[in-house]
Amino acid sequence: MGDILTLTQKALKDIDESASSIELESLRLQYLGKKGSISLLLQSIGAMPLQKRGQFGSDVNVAKNKISTQIQEKSKLIKEQLLEKKLQSEVLDLTLPGRKHNKGSLHPVTLTLNRINDFFISLGFEKVKGDEIEDEYHNFEALNIPKSHPARAMHDTFYFPDGRLLRTHTSSAQIHQMENNEPPHQVISPGRVYRCDSDLTHTPMFHQVEGLWIDKKITFANLLANLELFLKTFFEDEDLKIRARPSYFPFTEPSAEIDICCVMCEGEGCRVCSGSGWIEVLGCGMVHPNVLKMMKIDNNKYQGYAFGLGVERLAMLYYGISDLRLFFENDLRFLRQF
Ligand code: PHE
Repeated sequence: MGDILTLTQKALKDIDESASSIELESLRLQYLGKKGSISLLLQSIGAMPLQKRGQFGSDVNVAKNKISTQIQEKSKLIKEQLLEKKLQSEVLDLTLPGRKHNKGSLHPVTLTLNRINDFFISLGFEKVKGDEIEDEYHNFEALNIPKSHPARAMHDTFYFPDGRLLRTHTSSAQIHQMENNEPPHQVISPGRVYRCDSDLTHTPMFHQVEGLWIDKKITFANLLANLELFLKTFFEDEDLKIRARPSYFPFTEPSAEIDICCVMCEGEGCRVCSGSGWIEVLGCGMVHPNVLKMMKIDNNKYQGYAFGLGVERLAMLYYGISDLRLFFENDLRFLRQF
């Protein structure tokens, strides 16, 4: 009897002190397993005098139940403690700052294109798409630049082996517009153009926006008024000074280049405007009668203007960027500023 009591007390104490499921399992084997202490006690019954067996057996069973219950309870406790620990280590702190995602922004050339397009669309122009790969007819001939014309040499064209080319200006979009639609025409066509030219102020690819407005009563005065309003709006300066300088393009007559008063020095003369106080921003003119004739437009009934402006040039002046190459290097320190 004393043995059973001591054994039980030791077992309960061991169980109580065990700290893990593994320890607990080895205690279970030690006391309740096939060769465990309780089993050994039960086996010893056979060697006892008959009258003692009943009491002894029932005492051992009581001890066995106590130990078994204690093990179950302890096992439950260990599992609960384990869960609690896990929950605590996985706690979510909702007040911690989140992981930041860097937000992209539009490229300054795209921003500038959008501003130019928005202005002309508000004036009633429709935006049309042009092709970057053209043939000589659309890029030159139909624009009154025949094969031997010296203007071809000025265009530094990239040719494909089959004779096609990368368009050197967006003016080819005018031709497609007039070929495929009846007048009146009031369109802009923005996009990339290519010239075999690369130095501090020229890149082999740049952007232009072409404008074309042909109707029964479109005059040179409309051209000047529309472009003046555009430039004042674009540069957000109602007092911006503008001048039209006589120029030459084979596909317009008369032709002009439009200068704005230098936005860097306000006309004083600086490095950006080469000391002249003026900066050229676009080419324009009245669509040449030869072009209208080639497009089978009756030039006694219809006439109109065309213009082509350089997007990078306008972006540099608007944002005060002094190096053209910054647009194409994709340095994030530069791009993040927009
Ligand atoms: N295509 C001319 C250029 O690239 C610009 C221009 C367009 C001039 C339309 C007159 C009319 O230089």
